[in-house]
Amino acid sequence: MQERLQELQAEALKKIEQSANVKELNEVRVAYLGKKGPITEVLRGMGKLSAEERPKMGALVNEVREKISQKIEEKQAELEDAAVAEKLASETIDVTLPGRPVKVGTHHPLTKMIEEIEDLFIGMGYQIAEGPEVEQDYYNFEALNLPKGHPARDMQDSFYITEEILLRTHTSPVQARTMEENQSKGSIRIICPGKVYRRDNDDATHSHQFMQIEGLVVGENIRMSDLKGTLEVFAKKIFGEDREIRLRPSFFPFTEPSVEMDISCKICGGTGCNVCKGTGWIEILGAGMVHPNVLQMTGYDPKKYTGFAFGMGPERIAMLKYGIDDIRHFYTNDVRFLKQFAKHE
Ligand code: PHE
Repeated sequence: MQERLQELQAEALKKIEQSANVKELNEVRVAYLGKKGPITEVLRGMGKLSAEERPKMGALVNEVREKISQKIEEKQAELEDAAVAEKLASETIDVTLPGRPVKVGTHHPLTKMIEEIEDLFIGMGYQIAEGPEVEQDYYNFEALNLPKGHPARDMQDSFYITEEILLRTHTSPVQARTMEENQSKGSIRIICPGKVYRRDNDDATHSHQFMQIEGLVVGENIRMSDLKGTLEVFAKKIFGEDREIRLRPSFFPFTEPSVEMDISCKICGGTGCNVCKGTGWIEILGAGMVHPNVLQMTGYDPKKYTGFAFGMGPERIAMLKYGIDDIRHFYTNDVRFLKQFAKHE
């Protein structure tokens, strides 16, 4: 029995020494020290021994076990150290290598244009209002003095979802909604930026989805001269103090009178070029005095209140300001285009 134990010990120690990794070492542990291992087997056979021999044998078995587990522990520490060393060796970092550049994004030029316009109007006491892009026919057209079948609806080819619901064709429905909500509070001074949709074929100057910024001021004694003064401040702040503005008579069903505003062409200085199509002027927005029918429909007394409204396309403003020749650049997200605006951050 003693010999058998000695043999087992030698055998186990050898296997421990030969273990190449922690997994193999564990197998040796289970094989020799486990319940089904040969040492447990020897212990079971002790019943056959005499009373004097039994304690001696017991001590020997313990000694052998102790020795084996101690050796396993030592080997385990050795293997673990080796694994760490190997990992460190294979993962060395060359701190002298240059770092990888991190690409930093910029704000979209359109976002910046809109924020610039917003800031300007906020400075003049306006508040920002928003409304739904999926809009009711009522707010998009009817409340704006465009009843069903009105020929001016053709000016804005629409994406209808149902007979009564469509993708808004302009931001003017936010006017109607704000006036309806606000009627008891009297005066209003808002700008409404947002996406709008029209059934247009995309080309250099058209996009089926684009942005608008609407402005609306309602109060007592609001006059056409207030509109003109406001638009003049806007044009000079955005395009430069040297710009002139002019208002031309126009037509919108929700304003009366209606105008379109032009700014003087900076490229030719007013003498006429390709950009201003030889006129010296560039059209930038539509505006007018809120139509009495619109005031009435949204609960305002047109005898007491008047107002003005204007609507512009920030893409067009940005195109003129930065010399961008195609509206599609805003929506195709070519980084070569976008990163040119990083310097304006
Ligand atoms: N909503 C008009 C359009 O999209 C623009 C506009 C707004 C005109 C407000 C006058 C007043 O064409």
